[in-house]
Amino acid sequence: QAPGDLDGARIVITAGGTREALDPVRFIGNRSSGKQGVALASAALRRGATVTLIASHLDVAPPGGVTLVSAPSATELQQAVTDAAAEADIVIMAAAVSDYRPAEVLDAKIKKEDTGTELTLRLVQNPDILAGLAASARPGQKIVGFAAETTPGEDELLEIGRAKLARKGCDFLVVNRVGWNEGFALDTNSIVVLGKGGNVVLEASGTKLEIADRILDAVTSGVPVR
Ligand code: C5P
Repeated sequence: QAPGDLDGARIVITAGGTREALDPVRFIGNRSSGKQGVALASAALRRGATVTLIASHLDVAPPGGVTLVSAPSATELQQAVTDAAAEADIVIMAAAVSDYRPAEVLDAKIKKEDTGTELTLRLVQNPDILAGLAASARPGQKIVGFAAETTPGEDELLEIGRAKLARKGCDFLVVNRVGWNEGFALDTNSIVVLGKGGNVVLEASGTKLEIADRILDAVTSGVPVR
């Protein structure tokens, strides 16, 4: 973790929670704070990497020194990360991307006077950005995904993680438990990193900054640094 050990590495990190517009004032969102993604960006910068941070909604300020791209929705995030990935050695998808978006976005506010006592929203699935990045990765490029799960048991957590890793086809999957009082919005985290074969390559607990450094150690081993 010496400052400078990632000199020349080009790292793209997505962070925060996407917001899917319903109308000009409302959205469907999630409780991701963006803290773990921002911590990864800070740690990578300190270690000498060139960092592009693709930010959905963040509760924390992004570090100075990154190339910052704002991407509020999943569709915008897909465009931004696909463009940035073309020049990246490592792509880390820490953003909490909405699986669905409203099928239509209205130009004017939805009004209860018009909709009555019940309102049904029709949602359509967003593309799986991580799976797309993994499928089109260049040789040697590393694609890192995250999985936030509310599963109670450790064994079950790993089982779900391994299935997700296989489905997405990424090189590493950072699995963490989230819930009303875990994961999102906190300054600490507890994670397991799975390698491509489903093997556990790292288990770590600590502040999100400490964990960021450990994740970077795990995913950059073997990445050529110019
Ligand atoms: O399937 P799930 O949402 O749990 O997967 C989480 C991982 O996949 C995260 O790395 C997230 O950034 C990414 N993801 C994505 N596109 C989606 C949904 C999630 O890239 N539509």
